[in-house]
Amino acid sequence: MRLDKFEMERLQSTWENRVTFNLSESSVHPMSVRELIPDPAFLGQLLDAPLHYNQSNGTDELRATIAALYPGATLEHVEVTNGGSEANFVSIYATLEPGDEVVMILPSYQQVWGLINSFGMKVKPVHLHEERLWAPDLAEIEAAVTPQTRMIILCNPNNPTGAILTPAEMEAIVNIAARSGAWILSDEIYQGSERDGRMTPTFWGKYDRVIVTNGLSKAYGLPGLRIGWIVAPKEHIAKTWSYHDYTTIAPGTLSDALARIALSPEGRARCLERTRDICRANFPLFRSWMESQGSLFRMVEPRAGAIAYVRYDLPANSTMIVQRLLREKSVLVVPGDHFGMDCYLRIGYGPPPDYLQKGLERVREVIEDLKNTR
Ligand SMILES: Cc1ncc(COP(=O)(O)O)c(C=O)c1O
Repeated sequence: MRLDKFEMERLQSTWENRVTFNLSESSVHPMSVRELIPDPAFLGQLLDAPLHYNQSNGTDELRATIAALYPGATLEHVEVTNGGSEANFVSIYATLEPGDEVVMILPSYQQVWGLINSFGMKVKPVHLHEERLWAPDLAEIEAAVTPQTRMIILCNPNNPTGAILTPAEMEAIVNIAARSGAWILSDEIYQGSERDGRMTPTFWGKYDRVIVTNGLSKAYGLPGLRIGWIVAPKEHIAKTWSYHDYTTIAPGTLSDALARIALSPEGRARCLERTRDICRANFPLFRSWMESQGSLFRMVEPRAGAIAYVRYDLPANSTMIVQRLLREKSVLVVPGDHFGMDCYLRIGYGPPPDYLQKGLERVREVIEDLKNTR
């Protein structure tokens, strides 16, 4: 089967661990195992844990902990996966058929866009509007959804803009989906990383055909654990589990154990507060860097996630800028091209402040050079 190239992942996989300044990450600087484990005795238990196959859909304890975050959900509504990306993959794979009509709200994480196009779904994009602070035009969603629409796909809080749907927008999307019986696939992996500390509500519980994907990679600062999950109606979870048999079978045993700590009430509060603290501390640094560039850059301030989606006013292609940054400055950021939008850069502001400032300084040097040669 032909798969569209997942440009952003190729770029990050190739460079993120090699460059001097990686500003492509959409989460904060990750936690260490020591930081995550409050009790050293637990570390000893972990060392003695046999590395058998983990319960393949996630241990009952982990699924119960996740279910407790979603009103009305039980163990049987939850499937634990290897990262949010596997949660998205299995959800699409188990729910849609080639030729199915799908409405997707863009810009968004390129993985799902690449999959639905590669799998042969009929995709109708609906765009968020920068002049509306990256809110959707509900009339456009309404016009795109027909009685044939099988799924509405969205990411909330949004990657790359950091925008968050209002409760009224969520309700309107639910009503539009309900009219045609379409599924809503809501990727909520940035939930909990809001700078203002107000937790983004989930779509779960607002409609009976909702599939939520989430994971520990962004708001929890634990991407290396590779833990994600799907919350969906029971019958649907039973189906996704059997598809999961064909992908990775099970999450890692150690990851499942560490995820139980991260998602315990105490662990969760600690991880999310750490992420929000970093975002709150770093964002003013990022904002003043933006301001120091004058009118060359502008952004709608992100409300969640350690990412800023920045528009630049230069006659230069975004991929070309990213290639120059890599070649000349060993800095990695994501080009707007990877979201189908040139003249934007997605810049991660979640690393430690000193690292962030040095990386941004190198971006400034290239931008300065481009400005002087235009
Ligand atoms: C919206 C969104 N969903 C899913 C993922 C993938 O998450 P994971 O690293 O847990 O597979 C990402 C990663 O950038 C993302 O931005």
